[in-house]
Amino acid sequence: MKAVVLHRHGGVDALRYQDFPEPLCSKDEVLVKVHACSVNRLDIWVRKGLAGREVRFPHILGCDISGYLASDVDDVDHPTNKMKKGSKVVVYPMVHCGACRFCRIGKENRCISSSASIIGGFSSWHGGYAEYVKVPARNIIPLESDISMEEAASINVAYLTVYSIMKHAMRLMQEINGYGIEHSSSISSSSSSSDVDHNNNLFMLVYGAGSGIGVASIQLAKAMGYRVIATVGNHDKVEKAYSLGCDLVIDRSKQDIVREVMRFTEHGVDLVIDHVGIWDTSIKCLKKGHGIVAVCGATASEHTSVEVRPFYNRLASMFGAYLGSKRELVEMLEFMQKHRIKPVIDSIFALEDAILAHTRMEMNQHFGKIVLKI
Ligand SMILES: NC(=O)c1ccc[n+]([C@@H]2O[C@H](COP(=O)([O-])OP(=O)(O)OC[C@H]3O[C@@H](n4cnc5c(N)ncnc54)[C@H](OP(=O)(O)O)[C@@H]3O)[C@@H](O)[C@H]2O)c1
Ligand SMILES: [Zn+2]
Repeated sequence: MKAVVLHRHGGVDALRYQDFPEPLCSKDEVLVKVHACSVNRLDIWVRKGLAGREVRFPHILGCDISGYLASDVDDVDHPTNKMKKGSKVVVYPMVHCGACRFCRIGKENRCISSSASIIGGFSSWHGGYAEYVKVPARNIIPLESDISMEEAASINVAYLTVYSIMKHAMRLMQEINGYGIEHSSSISSSSSSSDVDHNNNLFMLVYGAGSGIGVASIQLAKAMGYRVIATVGNHDKVEKAYSLGCDLVIDRSKQDIVREVMRFTEHGVDLVIDHVGIWDTSIKCLKKGHGIVAVCGATASEHTSVEVRPFYNRLASMFGAYLGSKRELVEMLEFMQKHRIKPVIDSIFALEDAILAHTRMEMNQHFGKIVLKI
């Protein structure tokens, strides 16, 4: 098969388009004919290498996969239980043990097994920059919604992480304030218009409107009734962010984020989705009394320094987020279908042009998901 293979860490020239042996499945594994795989910032970290994180070379990147089953399957962990060759699927990105206390209650993203990892990430599991990928059968999710296969390859990492954050944040807000969308165990089926009206009083801030996490946050938060503030790194992205539904767009190359947030909201925001790692800014943008920072990335730096007093003076909360569960992925597909949300796609590249796709992301030129079509 054709694949983009890493033989070492490095720059974009480390991505080599070549022939590679087709994977052989053992019991409990399934072969997927990959249709599309989107690029995530994680792919860049893995290509470049991170201290203390290992991959075994040769390695194939790609954690956000849509495709077709390459053979019949009868042990997929799903109510239908049997799936036919050719069925449309997405791949749940987290390899999980299925047996630990979190896996047993359907919180696979909290799996505590030492073998837990992200397919195509810092993992022994090869990813979707290839014509075929083998994955654990329990990671197969049937694709029943009517989104395209390119769109389906755009939601399993960034959108899932944001959806899971929104649910967790709502539960926390309810606990602290007694407000937020009720029935937070299933936003998809139960969010009524009055819930959405209630959320109209809530502000959410996300950095990088055009990032994977950014577009997902804007679309999902707007559908849940939040007023959304987003930052961009240059003027060209301002209009795109407004047309996606932002109530305020801050150009971080010219404007001070905290000052603009306070000017617009008066009291600060209820929720910050910080995938960049600028905790001090995030905390200073919070409303006093109950604000939450959800941390899910460290694009700017592995380390950050924080002025401690503003955090506790605001009675702020902070939590870490890592993907979401399989149940949340299925629920999110329903939620997006119900609210007619299509993931924002910036560009589609052929697999052999993976170098161009990585370059575009590294230069922060994209607005939305970059997809490789296999
Ligand atoms: N925890 C999880 O499960 C999970 C899931 C998905 C992603 N992530 C993490 O989330 C981050 C984003 O991933 P992604 O795939 O969405 O990346 P992405 O599309 O490449 O977006 C990154 C964007 O962040 C913005 N940015 C960079 N430095 C910034 C700074 N100092 N201040 C404000 N904005 C800045 C840039 O946009 P502008 O130049 O326009 O500002 C850049 O385009 C990564 O760190 C990734 O590892 C974590
Ligand atoms: Zn587990």
